Amino acid sequence: MTEPLVLGIETSCDETGVGIVRGTTLLVDAIASSVDEHARFGGVVPEVASRAHLEAMIPTIRRACEQAGVALTDLDGIAVTAGPGLAGALMVGVASAKALALSLGLPIYGVNHLASHVAVDIVEHGPLPEPTMALLVSGGHSSLLLVPDITQDVRPLGATIDDAAGEAFDKVARVLGLPFPGGPHIDRAAREGSIVIDFPRGLTGGRDLERHRFDFSFSGLKTAVSRWVQAREASGEPVPVADVAASFQEAVVDVLTRKAIDACRTHGAEHLQIGGGVAANSRLRAMAAARCEAAGIELRVPRPGLCTDNGAMVAALGAQLMAKGRSASRLDLPADSSMPVTAVTA
Ligand code: KG4
Ligand code: ZN
Repeated sequence: MTEPLVLGIETSCDETGVGIVRGTTLLVDAIASSVDEHARFGGVVPEVASRAHLEAMIPTIRRACEQAGVALTDLDGIAVTAGPGLAGALMVGVASAKALALSLGLPIYGVNHLASHVAVDIVEHGPLPEPTMALLVSGGHSSLLLVPDITQDVRPLGATIDDAAGEAFDKVARVLGLPFPGGPHIDRAAREGSIVIDFPRGLTGGRDLERHRFDFSFSGLKTAVSRWVQAREASGEPVPVADVAASFQEAVVDVLTRKAIDACRTHGAEHLQIGGGVAANSRLRAMAAARCEAAGIELRVPRPGLCTDNGAMVAALGAQLMAKGRSASRLDLPADSSMPVTAVTA
């Protein structure tokens, strides 16, 4: 099938996403988010997220179909995030997808959330070059992946050994008194500030670099920011929030781009794709563009709305799987909260 019409469902965290893709064309990306319900807790509460998915699922599917002018009976297949993610939240999406597949008599594709973050760029910039180097940076993950074929072969080169990049943004935002999720607030605050504090760059020198060349560590940076802010508060002087935000952001972005380009060079990849919520960061996009250009690497980053969790990415990967004739998942596929990144489908 060359241009399969696929509906994708994403519920791994706090976004209920329903996207519809025809081949490599995005028809609709409908989202309902429970982020406001989690804000007062400073992080996503799994039970609250699961209930919100349950309430939002049918209205979001309806809205997606209406906006795309697609009837459920027009679909060729259903794709759903099978993992990794929050177990209860994933279960809502997987159960909904099974109900649709069973009642419509359609194949179901349980897909990997991380592979979907990579695949979404197909609807923005066309087929993925093979191989592509992917830097995935979200609230739950920071990984460098070599992707020879997004439908079946994803090779992890490195990952965070402690906090994910987005998690570091969220925790530092909290230290600075900015709301959750912190990434967009730090991004905004940083534009008003200057890079004046030299915060540490984890795993970038000496033995650490040798042993963890393509891994990341952000917990030391987070602690350094906390200590700096505490010392400033103890001195009675005001905390320069914008400068701290800019300096912290620079440290994260410097490490991410440096390691991503090193990985491209080492593995002969001429294309770097950045995905995940942190790829919405304006400084990351700018620094990656400059460093890729200097290194002769082609950079691909989807628009910010497709970097954060959404249903379009799941539909995009589902459509690729169908177009390449990959086998569908079994109808009893499980939601797998710790699905390994090497498993593209469940
Ligand atoms: O991919 P995503 O929507 O959900 C996960 O799978 O985790 O990523 C959410 C993360 C949050 O930690 C959020 O603070 C971060 O992405 N984020 C950003 C920006 N927008 C979202 N981080 C830095 N700068 C941004 N502009
Ligand atoms: Zn994600």
